[in-house]
Amino acid sequence: MNILVLGGGGREHALAWAIKQNPKCDRLIVAPGNAGIAQIAECAALNAEKPALVVRFCEENAVDFVVIGPEAPLAAGVADALRDAGIRCFGPSAAAARLEASKAFTKEICDAVGAPTAAWARFDAAAPAKDYIRAQRAPIVVKADGLAAGKGVIVAMDEAAALEAVDDIFGGAFGAAGAQVVIEEFMPGEEASFFALVDGLDVLPIGTAQDHKRVGEGDTGPNTGGMGAYSPAPVLTDAIQAQVMDQIIRPMMAEMARRGMPYQGVLYAGLMIDQGRARLVEYNVRFGDPECQVLMMRLGAQALDLMLACAEGRLAKARVNWSDDHALTVVMAAQGYPGAYEKGSAIAGLEDLTEDSFHMMFHAGTARQGGQVVASGGRVLNATARGATLAQAQARAYGLVDAVDWPQGFCRRDIGWRAL
Ligand code: AMP
Ligand code: GLY
Repeated sequence: MNILVLGGGGREHALAWAIKQNPKCDRLIVAPGNAGIAQIAECAALNAEKPALVVRFCEENAVDFVVIGPEAPLAAGVADALRDAGIRCFGPSAAAARLEASKAFTKEICDAVGAPTAAWARFDAAAPAKDYIRAQRAPIVVKADGLAAGKGVIVAMDEAAALEAVDDIFGGAFGAAGAQVVIEEFMPGEEASFFALVDGLDVLPIGTAQDHKRVGEGDTGPNTGGMGAYSPAPVLTDAIQAQVMDQIIRPMMAEMARRGMPYQGVLYAGLMIDQGRARLVEYNVRFGDPECQVLMMRLGAQALDLMLACAEGRLAKARVNWSDDHALTVVMAAQGYPGAYEKGSAIAGLEDLTEDSFHMMFHAGTARQGGQVVASGGRVLNATARGATLAQAQARAYGLVDAVDWPQGFCRRDIGWRAL
């Protein structure tokens, strides 16, 4: 079959890598792709956020199946347009994608089914929001309701920071995403992510992961899109996973269906685990980046079968073939990230890497310029490896890092430390 993947980061390189290994895949196109993806797939220039353009592209190229990587095309209704045109697609409708696009919406669904989450309130003006903060007291969490490229959340350890966050959000710091503010109880605990495929009502868990959001070693410094990740997440024990399925995911997916917006695609639940119990922090309606890289390393070619089963409503009969393995990915970023950084520095040594089903250097932000691969983003490479133990996966991933010659890049040397 002919398969189109939308996106051009490390997540999409990992998706393409897994899909490509499956004999069902004849032709693989990634739009826009990047220099690493170009080695395994055709890259196409296509505005993935324009539903009509994506449908036309699929018709012109006889695409049978579309996998949507990032959230923006989902929020823009690309999955709806593809399904209306009779093209199979992996990813939720715009209505269901509100589970990521509106934090207040997700909280309403939590409340409707009694799913455990932080106490919350929603405001559309600063004065009542500030009164609420003064009454609840810090620490407290202030969020722009809408999509803010992962930046609209302020965990305020004191009242002044929370009040300032309210002014920032209503002052337009996050544009239209900040038309409403959600204020939440601060949840202590350890964070982990749970991934499940959902085809309306049936839910199939496909793995757990933990990422490192802070730029600095020991999980210090500013927040980033993620500096590394590993799977599985030991903190998500079988008992806690069962609790998450029974109290959070299954009832919420049933409520979505009841409201006429059945969820279809991957659901990425951010959880806070404290005293043996998980509460929902937030949902994403797509794979995490870089969490996807470790999940794909572990799932391999079966990822395509699972995504197809999800798109075709066959999850009830689908099974995941688990290996008792561990995967870990190290993000190599351009110096300066997550602040200002330069693009265009040359990366050497990529051609000589040993890449196989245990070692892959996924490209997150690269381009080909003349004969060489250059950095074209903040997060640039994802050194990803698999092993019998997390320590083995970690050693293999850093082996890849050390084989790359890129003086303008950096990475954390401690990915996985919490679990090791
Ligand atoms: P983001 O992934 O950018 O939406 O950032 C959200 C992050 O803020 C989460 O990963 C948590 O670390 C933190 N966070 C969000 N809500 C809460 C909460 N209610 N209590 C504690 N931490 C939170
Ligand atoms: N790694 C966090 C995310 O993809 O949102």
